[in-house]
Amino acid sequence: MRHLILATLSTVALFAATTMATMGAANASAGGDVFAAKGCADCHYTQGPAREKTIDDQLAKKGPELWYAGSKFQKDWLGKWLTDPKPIRPMKFGSLTVENPADHPKLSGGDVAAVTDFLMGLTSADVAAGKVKPKKNPKGRQIFSKKMPCSGCHQYVGRKKKIMGGRSGPSLVEAGVRLNPDWILAYLQKPKVFKPVKMMPVFVGLLSDKDMLNVSRYVANFKPKKKKK
Ligand code: HEC
Ligand code: HEC
Repeated sequence: MRHLILATLSTVALFAATTMATMGAANASAGGDVFAAKGCADCHYTQGPAREKTIDDQLAKKGPELWYAGSKFQKDWLGKWLTDPKPIRPMKFGSLTVENPADHPKLSGGDVAAVTDFLMGLTSADVAAGKVKPKKNPKGRQIFSKKMPCSGCHQYVGRKKKIMGGRSGPSLVEAGVRLNPDWILAYLQKPKVFKPVKMMPVFVGLLSDKDMLNVSRYVANFKPKKKKK
């Protein structure tokens, strides 16, 4: 009798798990359809590996590549951003002189969850999981603002909550809410995989693996201060 109950229970559990997995997959594939129907694919490519070979390829792109979106972004952030896309890059994509026009298309309703699932399913095997723990990190901080001044090109929140830093790279304000910590490290370590042609300097050979880890932890810790209760 006990065996029978256990067997029944596990069948039910298996059934539920399979249904949920199928539903997730269905939502992701529905998201892929929305992505195509809404014209997202006109500006973003979603199949890796990286296609850019020359600086002209890079400049011809209308939007960032999304083939590793599931490894790069945090799911909660992605869903919110698709509903209310605030500028990430201070400057217009691919430009150093024109401001970001802040005109990214918005999604709403069921499209948000479907497209989020679709994008979160696009992952790269080149991002090792569980390596980077966000942390206050004096070494990382020193690298960020002094040694390799990342801050020369990236905005971040400095003393007295002032937004400081350069404007040529994507803003890293709240990068710890937006980016997967492990992706930050992979991005610094494997430029050939993620940005074969890039405006950002390559730090391989300039920063040791340990320092890459330090600076990744530091950036992954860029989060809004918790409100005191
Ligand atoms: C006209 C071109 C264009 C279209 C159409 C477009 N995007 Fe974008 N997308 C951009 C640009 C440019 C950026 C960079 C925005 C920024 O930095 O603020 C961007 C950024 C993004 C990002 C963040 C990527 C990153 O690496 O920072 C995601 C996710 C995204 N778009 C998804 C979508 C989805 C989903 C759609 C369809 C509803 C869509 N985009 C339609 C041009 C476009
Ligand atoms: C000379 C300017 C410059 C410097 C210095 C620089 N970056 Fe960047 N960074 C960029 C640009 C531009 C991009 C956008 C991708 C590209 O075009 O290469 C970028 C992208 C990034 C991204 C991905 C952000 C996103 O949303 O896609 C991270 C993380 C990052 N940089 C971290 C760093 C760190 C850490 C340092 C210091 C070790 C650093 N950067 C130094 C210009 C710079």
